[in-house]
Amino acid sequence: SSTKYFKFNVEWKSVTRLCHTKPVLTVNGKYPGPTIDVHEGDDVQIKVFNRVSRNTTIHWHGVRQVRTGWADGPAYITQCPIGAGSSYTYKFKVVDQRGTLWWHAHFLWQRASVYGAFIIHSRMPFPFSPPNPIQRNIPPIIFGEWWNHDVELVEKEMMLYGGGPNSSDAYTINGLPGPLYPCSTKDTFIQTVEAGKTYLLRIINAALNDELFFAVANHNLTVVEIDAVYTKPFTTSAIMITPGQTTNVLLTTDQVPHNSTSMFVMAARPYLTSVFPFDNSTTIAFLKYKNTTNNPPMPPYTLPQNLPPMEDTLYATQFSNNLKSLGSQDYPCRVPKKIDKQVVTTISLNLQDCPSNQTCKGYLDKRFYASMNNQSFLSPSTSILESHYHKLNNSLFTSDFPDNPPNVFNYTGVNHVTENMNTKFGTKVLKVPFGTKLEFVLQDTNFLNPENHPIHVHGHNFFIVGRGFGNFDASKDPKGYNLVDPPERNTVAVPVGGWAAIRLIADNPGVWFIHCHLEEHTSWGLAMGFIVKDGEDPSQSVIPPPSDLPPC
Ligand code: C2O
Repeated sequence: SSTKYFKFNVEWKSVTRLCHTKPVLTVNGKYPGPTIDVHEGDDVQIKVFNRVSRNTTIHWHGVRQVRTGWADGPAYITQCPIGAGSSYTYKFKVVDQRGTLWWHAHFLWQRASVYGAFIIHSRMPFPFSPPNPIQRNIPPIIFGEWWNHDVELVEKEMMLYGGGPNSSDAYTINGLPGPLYPCSTKDTFIQTVEAGKTYLLRIINAALNDELFFAVANHNLTVVEIDAVYTKPFTTSAIMITPGQTTNVLLTTDQVPHNSTSMFVMAARPYLTSVFPFDNSTTIAFLKYKNTTNNPPMPPYTLPQNLPPMEDTLYATQFSNNLKSLGSQDYPCRVPKKIDKQVVTTISLNLQDCPSNQTCKGYLDKRFYASMNNQSFLSPSTSILESHYHKLNNSLFTSDFPDNPPNVFNYTGVNHVTENMNTKFGTKVLKVPFGTKLEFVLQDTNFLNPENHPIHVHGHNFFIVGRGFGNFDASKDPKGYNLVDPPERNTVAVPVGGWAAIRLIADNPGVWFIHCHLEEHTSWGLAMGFIVKDGEDPSQSVIPPPSDLPPC
């Protein structure tokens, strides 16, 4: 292994999409940002220079950060932001992970444009052998969202009025909306391929607020990896991917190309979207077989017949149920069969009375917040990790995140609205001893517009041992858990109006963030802190803070 160095300049760049030009926050002037390529076992050093008059941080989404919490990146959880004109070098080692992850800004909504792929090449042979040698050197497919307006304003309005944010003006593939959007025919991603080969497609959902379906016309996709963990391969006509998730698939170019049919539409559109009115628009790109002369087909473009329609929960559920850990001798599934502790938490949107002399745009003249166990997470003003590491007694946070929902909840109950009123505000963390085998039951109790919340855990992968609709039943549901080959990931789609049970081994000492990866929900407080202790003295279990750690 070796040390890989990267330089990230966070800077403005003028970008035009949909015939709107605006300054966009970027890394190195690229939108989407540069791809990080490393090998398993490498030490990585990424120096981030902040060249704009805004604070910023960068998070390496899904990188385990074993005892290197200082490099994880969420603002006010593991570090204070990198101030204007300053720099900070993220230093960490890539341990026992391989595949596709990604990176993104972790400050306010900056990840709308500050994101890119993080690819970890394995030092071991690929554990699958399709009939053709695998072509792996094609760029990742990254989904995103584009707003014609200033994203900072979209976010500010949402926080002020407490209503759903303005939906984005386009979904994008590699920053390009594609020809179904106004003024965007030239802004279309085209991937050239050769016939008769098998390609490894690395797919990343970097959208802010929308879970997506993705399909390629006339081609099946074989899923081999999710969130940088190998899976039992399964072939599907489309995938579902939430913000935060990554999926590697094999695609075989088995069509017979000729000049009229050698361009195939690749399309992504929402499964469910958390913004209202629902945006059901579609971003498309093309897969172009080489040695054919045709240009992109003329409109109207036909969407792949295999692309599921919006709100196809049956498809989304079947897709998720097909995901299983590989569980081979080389890549065993390490799901804890027994647990030391269970935490049941609701995840929901809440209504709050509107402050007098203000307008609110939530529902019934009230405003939205979001919560876990009716606790809306308030971001502290300095970093929790510093506080924890230096054992500061500054009441920045409290370690009393409730183990169970404070109210009786009933997903189908009539008192839904009142159950979801009056969330409490605070900075609460769950603190557990090193090595705790932990189960979280995540229960969606949204009373309005139920959603498939993508819950992301920092610093740990977890196993999705169970999922279901309606209320979690502690006496029945655990009997149906998969403790043999459950999928391992860092972001789980909690079924709409249902629950997911995840298990993890809390073996990474430090302070971590757990939150919904729909950005609007994180902003409203659908988050919690998670501290893994190792003995009494954190200074012996986490590396000391780097000297260039940004001050608060
Ligand atoms: Cu992808 Cu807390 O983030």
